[in-house]
Amino acid sequence: MIGHQEITRREFNLFRDYVYKKVGISLADHKITLVQGRLSKRLRQLGLKSYEEYYNHMVSDSSGEEALEFINAISTNVTQFFRESGQWEYLTEHINEILSTKKDKKLRIWSAACSSGEEPYSIMMFLKEQVHEFSTWDIAVLATDISKKVLTKAMAGIYEEKDIQGIPRHTLLTNFSKIKGENGVMYQIKDDIKKHITFRMFNLVYDSFSIFSNHFDIIFCRNVMIYFDPPTQQKLISNYHRIMSNDGLLFVGHSESLTRNKDEFKLLRPSIYQKM
Ligand SMILES: C[S@@+](CC[C@H](N)C(=O)[O-])C[C@H]1O[C@@H](n2cnc3c(N)ncnc32)[C@H](O)[C@@H]1O
Repeated sequence: MIGHQEITRREFNLFRDYVYKKVGISLADHKITLVQGRLSKRLRQLGLKSYEEYYNHMVSDSSGEEALEFINAISTNVTQFFRESGQWEYLTEHINEILSTKKDKKLRIWSAACSSGEEPYSIMMFLKEQVHEFSTWDIAVLATDISKKVLTKAMAGIYEEKDIQGIPRHTLLTNFSKIKGENGVMYQIKDDIKKHITFRMFNLVYDSFSIFSNHFDIIFCRNVMIYFDPPTQQKLISNYHRIMSNDGLLFVGHSESLTRNKDEFKLLRPSIYQKM
């Protein structure tokens, strides 16, 4: 019956090779059930009978849209406002010291796998509250992701009640407008936060870092490197190193570390690194 057949090991390997070549995501053997679960719905929608048929459909779609659907289906976009509390505590303690070295009063930040926008919006809300004489600073956040779907949500900046739970009350009241959505009240980020953020599609593994002309003072690359194999992680970190300003900070997810790039970054605190 359509949608109920099992994916074969050979079919799984087709997807595994594809996703590795396309986005550098390395799928472990046990992810076979995840891939089957996530793709079965798409097979049903398209009326296809096997995973191989779906694979052929995807690779022959020259628009690349189906490949994006596929990558969206198998990658995890879970995120939240003010995730990794230790990092925000570190920034609260050090932000003004970091800024004191920036004579040009410019701060450049990259949220490198921004998902649906909670991370870059947290960064800007934090800075607006913490930076002394905020309006005199030129602050820009670049927010990128590989998934068009999450970027669309990020650009809209509209969140449900369940999404805004991690935001302190005064921060929520200052930076969001309440609007009426189809399923009740929604929270829309205000333009004075949004105007500092540029959203773009960028593949961290295969797109070229030569497009970056300016240097980033802080890079957030959180909860995405876990999907990449060690050589891919190492190359990514070296790319960050090249495009960061001296003493720049790199924030990673709590289960990620930079064991292979010891000459480039030093560990300041768990999941917080500084360019050497
Ligand atoms: C689990 S979310 C993490 C979001 C946010 N950084 C956080 O920590 O809350 C991982 C994000 O990485 C994105 N992603 C996966 N592979 C990527 C790649 N090769 N290049 C850019 N983004 C990628 C996914 O689309 C997803 O939105």
